[in-house]
Formats: sequence, C-alpha cells, structure tokens
Amino acid sequence: MTDCIVLTEAALRDFTERILEAAGVPRDRAGKVAAPMVAANLRGIDSHGVQLLPHYVDQLEAGDVEPRAEGRVISESGACLLYDSQYGLGAITSEICCGHAVRLAGEHGLGMVVAREATHFGAAGFWAQKISQAGLIGMALCDASAAIPPWQAKEGRLGTNPISMAVPHPGGRGWLLDMATSTVSYGRLEKAMLERRESVPAGWAMDREGRPTTDLATALKGFLMPLGGYKGSGLGLMVEILCGVLSGGAMSREIRGIRQHGRHSRVNHAFLAVEVARFLPPEEFYARMDRLIAEVKSAAAAAGYDEVLVAGDPEWRAEEQRRRNGIPIAAGPWEELARTAERLKVALPDC
Ligand SMILES: NC(=O)c1ccc[n+]([C@@H]2O[C@H](COP(=O)([O-])OP(=O)(O)OC[C@H]3O[C@@H](n4cnc5c(N)ncnc54)[C@H](O)[C@@H]3O)[C@@H](O)[C@H]2O)c1
Repeated sequence: MTDCIVLTEAALRDFTERILEAAGVPRDRAGKVAAPMVAANLRGIDSHGVQLLPHYVDQLEAGDVEPRAEGRVISESGACLLYDSQYGLGAITSEICCGHAVRLAGEHGLGMVVAREATHFGAAGFWAQKISQAGLIGMALCDASAAIPPWQAKEGRLGTNPISMAVPHPGGRGWLLDMATSTVSYGRLEKAMLERRESVPAGWAMDREGRPTTDLATALKGFLMPLGGYKGSGLGLMVEILCGVLSGGAMSREIRGIRQHGRHSRVNHAFLAVEVARFLPPEEFYARMDRLIAEVKSAAAAAGYDEVLVAGDPEWRAEEQRRRNGIPIAAGPWEELARTAERLKVALPDC
C-alpha cells in the first residue's frame, strides 16, 4: 500500500457516486450527494471529503438516513421558512433549502430557512457557497451531536456546530469563512488517527477529566475543546439556538452523530441568504469588500509568517493546486474506502 493515492476530481466523483449507488442512493441523487464531499477534498478540507463516505454507507445500511425522502415545507411566512427534512440525504434536503433561501431573498431581500429532522450535510461552507453562487451573501449553520463540553465542563453538551459565511465576488473567489465552533472538527481528529499520527496540536482536545492533551489516543477517548474557551461555547450555543431551538426539532443531547447508528441523527440546519442590492449597488459593495480585504492583508506579517491571509484563501489555493495535480487521499482513509468498496462490490478507480 502506498502512502497516498492521487485521483482526478472526475475519478473521485465517479468512484464516490458508484459507492453511494451500491449503498442504496438512487442514481439521480448520487451525484448531488457526492458533490459536497468531492468539493471538500478539492478544497483541502479532507476531514469532510470522501473520508465521510464509509460513515454515510453505515448510516444508509442502518436506516439512519432515508435515501428517497424529499422533505417538506412546514410553514412559510414572509422571508422565513421552516422545513422538515424527513431524515433525507443531507445534500438533497440542503440543496432544496438553499433554493428556498435564495428564492425568499429575491422576494424579500432576505431569506432564512431552518430545517429540522435533517442529516449530515458535510462542510457547511459548501452550502454558504451554494447561496453566494447565486450572487447573495450566504450563511449556513448546523448543529451536531453533543460531543463538546461547554467551557469549564468535562461532559459533552454541544456539537461542533459549524458556522459558515460566503460573500459573492465577481471574480468567483469571495471571502468564505467555514469553521467548527470547537477548535477543530471531529473529522480532523479522525484524520490524524487514519494518518497514524501520535499527537495533535495543543488546544484541540482534552482528556476525560477536562485536562488539555496533545496525545492523540487520549484525545480520541476524551473531548474536543470549544474554540477559544468560553467564547467558542457561546458561539456553539448560538448555532444550537438558531438550529435546534428555532427549528422545534431535536436539541443537543437528542442529536446522534454520524458514527452512532440505529437511530435518525436528527440534526438541524439553518440557511440565510442576503441580497446585497437591497443595501448597496453591488459594484459599490464589491469595491468596498476588495478595499477591506486589501487593508487586512496590508498588515505586516508577524514573525514566522510571510503574509496575512483571510478566510477562504487556504482553500482557494488548495483547489487551484488540486485541480492541477489531482486530489491526494491519505493511506488510512483510502484503506477504509477500499474496504467499503470491496464489501459493496464496487471496483476501485484506476490511479
Ligand atoms: N456538518 C457538521 O456536522 C460539521 C461539524 C463541524 C465542522 N464541520 C466542517 O468541518 C470543516 C473544518 O472545520 P475547521 O474549523 O476544522 O476548519 P479550519 O480550522 O481548517 O478553518 C476554519 C476557517 O479558517 C480559515 N483559515 C485557515 N487558515 C487561515 C489563516 N492562516 N488565516 C485566515 N484564515 C484562515 C479557513 O479559510 C476557514 O474558513 C468545515 O468545513 C466545517 O463546516 C462540519
């Protein structure tokens, strides 16, 4: 087994779709479900790329996800829409919800969609970007199983609850913040394990007693830490209020993670779309955005750094590089994928 294999975007998409189909995803949906995973790999967010696929397959086999469900609108009032995702595939129901958010923003200047009884939608930024690709400011949030202790606790009560915001740009590469409200997502810990690393950076995790640790084995048995202490706890709670509380669905400890099977995961999503033209002429907004980013980047780099970056920069760069040179999949995740493919009798891609 090599250290990693390298696939083109097309080959990775085709392989992912074939696995999804073999696991029971209807053919006309497999491409849509593969898209956020392949996009995450392309953008260097490997924790939310095809590394998720074995978990999604397990969820499908356990009946945690309903591969044919469409979801339904529960209510619509002005710019606000409440959706029941009916445990459908996260990518399918999220695409429908983003479509509603964009439509509502066209009608009212703002559109907010909150979805309950949903399933994992992958990297939140993919969905914020889906909205920004329609020329609107997009935000996507979701809650997750209660694996993160609130600040000063040693028992999980909040999810890694990501926040993402994408700003459109005529050049196609706007500001794109996409972050867990824990220091890192659980997928980053899992990725470290699959890469057979022994330690993780300080600030990522703590042991079962709530003591900070850098030992990966201890971290895997312990907890991820809220981002920046009590401020991360606050942000995680903010997401849970906009997703779990506002949706009327499951909250915090009622939510199951993608690695816990036998029950619907019952996560909640929130999508916000904002039409810039209701505030400023778009050209003026884009010029002001360019000025702001240029000013931020004009700061002298701190010792040990060559330049100042803004959110989205590392991922745009990864995307450019991976489109050119292919998408590397590390040995550990690849072995998991190959095992899943073999079990489902899906041929491996040529590489
Ligand atoms: N669906 C779920 O349940 C779930 C839960 C948690 C996280 N996630 C996803 O996990 C992924 C990873 O999250 P993360 O918090 O580990 O991401 P991260 O820490 O790698 O990056 C967070 C943000 O910081 C920006 N950034 C990185 N380096 C920078 C620098 N030097 N200067 C300025 N900005 C910089 C990135 O562009 C990104 O927007 C995200 O896609 C998130 O949506 C999903």
